Amino acid sequence: MHKKSIELLNKAIAEEMTALQQYIYFHFHCDDQDLDILSTIFRQNAIQEMIHVERFAERILFLKGEVEMKASQDVQKITDPEEMLKMATKLEEDAIILYNKFANECAQHGDSVTKQLFESVIAEEERHYDDFDKESENIQTYGKEYLALQSMERAKKRGIPRPTTPVE
Ligand SMILES: [Fe+2]
Ligand SMILES: [Fe+2]
Repeated sequence: MHKKSIELLNKAIAEEMTALQQYIYFHFHCDDQDLDILSTIFRQNAIQEMIHVERFAERILFLKGEVEMKASQDVQKITDPEEMLKMATKLEEDAIILYNKFANECAQHGDSVTKQLFESVIAEEERHYDDFDKESENIQTYGKEYLALQSMERAKKRGIPRPTTPVE
């Protein structure tokens, strides 16, 4: 049933796997650079991409297809925050274009449930795009100081004395 939909859903999973792996990679590098805001955004969005994989996979199984868990590309070893955001916005932009195309294809072959699934995921990808785009704008507006401030917040937290265990 709906062989074409299964093919499109597997292509979408490959894109999600790429974004998921890339965002987790960005997350731990931002964390390593003490960039708390960026690190959290990448982590949260990676989790959402994982949920997209799950939603697409559930639909494939419902259609009696096989789930291919392969990323469309390898992780790119980008560690500069501005470059990370550039890549992330591009990934989201590409996903939005692709899923719109897939939704139309599903409509053409009469699979309205998969079409709606793509449409609901597009709405979330648009929010991801917005998250990344806002962060890019902040860096452009405030310059490197925006990133330096995040590191300073972390440093401040490190400076707070921790409660000590009472010695008996
Ligand atoms: Fe996604
Ligand atoms: Fe996304």
